[in-house]
Amino acid sequence: MNPLNHVAIIMDGNGRWGLKYKNSRNAGHKAGLNTVEKIIKETLKKKIKFLTLYAFSTENWKRPKKEINYLFNLLENFLLNRIEELNKQNIKLKIIGVKSFSSKLNNLLRKSEKKTSKNKRLQINLALNYGSKFEIINAFKNLNKNKEKISEKNLNKYLLTRNTPDPDLLIRTGDTKRLSNFLLWQLAYSEIFFEKKLWPEFNEKDYSKIINKFKKIKRNFGNI
Ligand code: IPE
Ligand code: IPE
Ligand code: MG
Repeated sequence: MNPLNHVAIIMDGNGRWGLKYKNSRNAGHKAGLNTVEKIIKETLKKKIKFLTLYAFSTENWKRPKKEINYLFNLLENFLLNRIEELNKQNIKLKIIGVKSFSSKLNNLLRKSEKKTSKNKRLQINLALNYGSKFEIINAFKNLNKNKEKISEKNLNKYLLTRNTPDPDLLIRTGDTKRLSNFLLWQLAYSEIFFEKKLWPEFNEKDYSKIINKFKKIKRNFGNI
């Protein structure tokens, strides 16, 4: 049975779900938040140590302003309402991505990270304004600036995921098979599951099924 330390998820399909059932993409984003809660609960139950959630990419700024505003309002309310509870559950929240939002949201994100920084049970990396190509280029720039040798170990130090083991498992919901600029370096040897269900209809049972399949895979890492 494979050990499972880190699950990464591309939470895709909110907009399509919202349009299909509520005639509104934003309603899909709201519904998607319930799935986030379910998956966090199940991750705790399974004693997994790291969960990385792709919530907003550097490319998502191309979307209509109204949708972007809705998404960040949703996030703000989520943090305001849930950070105490996450903290009580010994969860550490880390934002990966550039915090270039409203000063109100930037402060709230910083405060939430600080409040939970000592927690040990589960680390949630929330990928927000995250782009993997930017992350890798930025890491090389840091190596260059500090005149450090280019090596895997040194590069890892400057990735936003430093101190996090690479994901063992990547799940993308929403019936699309691509990485969309997510953790290109870190996913080098991850097991990848593309799930047909849209994110708001994905549930803990679907998640457990994938994890059970993952556990039985023969992971070679180049060996035989
Ligand atoms: C993923 O759902 C969530 C974000 C990118 C914020 P989408 O909003 O991409 O949903 P679809 O793919 O359009 O259905
Ligand atoms: C990827 O979903 C980003 C997030 C889930 C946050 P997108 O829906 O933005 O991906 P593309 O643009 O269809 O590849
Ligand atoms: Mg999408």
